[in-house]
Amino acid sequence: MASRAAHRSSSLCALCYIAPLLTLATAANFTDLFEPYWAADHVAVLDGDGPVVELKLDNTSGCGFGSKNKYLFGQASMQIKLIEGDSAGTVTAFYMSSDGPNHDEVDFEFLGNVSGEPYLVQTNVYADGTGNREQRHSLWFDPTADFHTYSILWNRYHVRFLVDGIPIRMFPNKELQGIPFPKSQPMGVYASVWNANDWATQGGRVKTNWSHGPFVSAFRALDIDAGSPEPGPGEEAAHWWDAPEMSGLSPHQRRQLKWVRAKHLVYDYCRDSARFVQLPGECLG
Ligand SMILES: *[C@@H]1O[C@H](CO)[C@@H](O)[C@H](O)[C@H]1NC(C)=O
Ligand SMILES: *[C@@H]1O[C@H](CO)[C@@H](O)[C@H](O)[C@H]1NC(C)=O
Ligand SMILES: *[C@@H]1O[C@H](CO)[C@@H](O)[C@H](O)[C@H]1NC(C)=O
Ligand SMILES: *[C@@H]1O[C@H](CO)[C@@H](O)[C@H](O)[C@H]1NC(C)=O
Repeated sequence: MASRAAHRSSSLCALCYIAPLLTLATAANFTDLFEPYWAADHVAVLDGDGPVVELKLDNTSGCGFGSKNKYLFGQASMQIKLIEGDSAGTVTAFYMSSDGPNHDEVDFEFLGNVSGEPYLVQTNVYADGTGNREQRHSLWFDPTADFHTYSILWNRYHVRFLVDGIPIRMFPNKELQGIPFPKSQPMGVYASVWNANDWATQGGRVKTNWSHGPFVSAFRALDIDAGSPEPGPGEEAAHWWDAPEMSGLSPHQRRQLKWVRAKHLVYDYCRDSARFVQLPGECLG
């Protein structure tokens, strides 16, 4: 308890410092938009209005929060500061998901590491219940030193993953080629911290060292700019993410994506011919 209280007060100090920025950046009131969905006693909302949410993993539980509503297309963003120091065996996740057996899901999963070794960011897309579309990237900054913005942009044309506004991955809609695309199941917006030491760090060789816990990731500037699955009168008008220029990346963004792939892509399922007898259809052409 004592160490938790100390941790909270040091975070609150940081909060005072950034508060003027937050009122501009944060449209969302945590309790209006979100609720804990797993181990509420491990979820700390730091000022009552929700500018900083801390998720704690210890040897009793991980935890998570999710949006009360579900959305059809749009953008969800969060600023996240990942577990500092030894985070081996842990996964911090920011994702969107629908319910049910053949669910759609779009994931950012931050794979922890031993102190001083780099996090990896794993992204994945599930359509009609099938995932297995992992990419892994290293980052060009230390994601434990400060908050960075992670965004999922989802429209009829593609799913776009962004880090500080830089596209790191595009999953284009190739329905015309028979590839399932998440487009009809409304998805909620979620975040969680959990123990995944059977696979997350160095292929599962490095386990969570519980004596280094509790493991805490912090979230702020939770922002959802997305469509209602059942728009009310006057809400059917096209949204910004439907605009023709949102069908792909700008030349500048294409250069950014190319840079990320050249410098930071460490795994791409589309190149894993040892894993797939036949590469998935979306990987061809
Ligand atoms: C946030 O929402 C809660 C619950 O609806 C409400 O009590 C609180 O006043 C809201 N805070 C702000 C700053 O809007
Ligand atoms: C969990 O961690 C606490 C604090 O480090 C320790 O006292 C307790 O024995 C641990 N419990 C288990 C089941 O490992
Ligand atoms: C952890 O660090 C090791 C050694 O630098 C590296 O090989 C690995 O890719 C890093 N990330 C994960 C998630 O294992
Ligand atoms: C876990 O951390 C403690 C304290 O730093 C250390 O003494 C112990 O050797 C670590 N355990 C493992 C399995 O590395």
